[in-house]
Amino acid sequence: MNYIGSKHSIIDFIWESIIDVVGDKKNYSFCDIFAGTGVVGRYFKSYGYDIIANDNQYYSYVINKHFIENNDNITFSKLRSIGIDNVFIYLNSLDNYKGFIYNNYTSEGTRDSDISRMYFTENNAIKIDSIRNQIEVWYKDKLINDNEYYYLITCLLEAADRVANTASVYEAFLKNMKKSAQIDLDLRELPILINKNTNNKVYMEDCNELIKHISGDILYMDPPYNERKYNTNYHILETIAYGDNPDIKGIAGVRCDDSRSKYNSRKNAIIAFEDLIKNAKFKYIFLSYNDEGIMSIGDIEKIMKKYGTYSRYEKNHKRYKANKSKGGMRRTTVEYLHVLIKDLEV
Ligand SMILES: C[S@@+](CC[C@H](N)C(=O)[O-])C[C@H]1O[C@@H](n2cnc3c(N)ncnc32)[C@H](O)[C@@H]1O
Repeated sequence: MNYIGSKHSIIDFIWESIIDVVGDKKNYSFCDIFAGTGVVGRYFKSYGYDIIANDNQYYSYVINKHFIENNDNITFSKLRSIGIDNVFIYLNSLDNYKGFIYNNYTSEGTRDSDISRMYFTENNAIKIDSIRNQIEVWYKDKLINDNEYYYLITCLLEAADRVANTASVYEAFLKNMKKSAQIDLDLRELPILINKNTNNKVYMEDCNELIKHISGDILYMDPPYNERKYNTNYHILETIAYGDNPDIKGIAGVRCDDSRSKYNSRKNAIIAFEDLIKNAKFKYIFLSYNDEGIMSIGDIEKIMKKYGTYSRYEKNHKRYKANKSKGGMRRTTVEYLHVLIKDLEV
C-alpha cells in the first residue's frame, strides 16, 4: 500500500540505526506507536522482538491485528462446506451485493445524487461490498475467528487499494478511470508472519493516552509530519475496514469525522510530543521525522535533550508524491532518526 509516511523504503536505515544504538537484543520489546501499515513493527517481529503496535485509525488497527498479532497459520477450519482451499476462489466469485461502496463511490451508484464520484468501477465496488458483507456474515455466524476475520479484511483493504481510481490517497478521485482501476479486483492471500517466539499486542488508541499504560525497551515514533489528516486521506479504507454506513460529506464523500491529530499542527505537536516523551517508560526512544516536518529539528532536539542522552542519524530520501503531476518540488528530503537514551530517573 502506498501510504503517506510509509517507512517501507527506508526500513534498512531504521533497522541499522536502531541496532547501532541498542545492539541486536532480540529479547527486547519494540513499540511502534504510530504504526500505519505496520512495516516497521513487522520487520522487528520477523527478527524476534515482541511488538506493541498502535494507531488511532481502524484500518491500521485491522492491518496490524493481522501482520503483528496473527502468529499462526490461518486454517478456515469451520468453512468446510466451501472447502478450506477454496475460500479465496469463493470470495472472488461474489458479485451479488450493491452496498455502501457501490452506492457512494461509483458513478453508477451516485448517478442520481448531486455529486457523482468515481473511486471504483461498478464491478469492483460490487465485489468490495459483497466480499466485505460475506466476511461479516461468517464472523457473526462464528464460522471464522478473530484471526481469520482481520486477515480477510486486510486482504480486502489491499485488494481494494490496488484498484482505487485515485492518485494514491482518497481525498480525491481521478476524472478518468486509470488503467489499474479498470482491472478486476483480485482478493489475494497475504503472508502471515509467524514468529512463535514473539508475544504481540495491537491497540487503537491515542498514543498520548496509551503511553501512560505501557512500558518496554524500544519506543519507535513515526507521527504525521504535517497537516495532512490520515482520516481524510484514507476515509474509504476506514469504511471498508468497519463495513459500516457512515454519514459522509463533500465531493470526496469523506466520513463526518472532524477529529484532527495533535501532531498535525506545530503548536499542538510540540506539546503532545513532549508529553509522550515524558510519560514514556522506555529506555530507548526513536523518532522518525524529516526536514520539512512542522516541528523543527531544533524543537525536537531541545525536548529530547531534557530527558536523557540525545543523538541523530540522517539519510536522503526520495520524496513521497501523492500527485506525480505536481512539479516544482524538491526531489529529496532528509529523513532523520532522532535518538534518546532516556534517563528513566528524570
Ligand atoms: C507517518 S504515519 C506512520 C507510518 C508507518 N510508520 C508506516 O511505515 O506505515 C503516522 C500514523 O500516525 C497515526 N496517528 C496520527 N495521530 C495519532 C495519535 N494521536 N495516536 C495514534 N496514532 C496517530 C496516523 O493514523 C498514521 O497512520
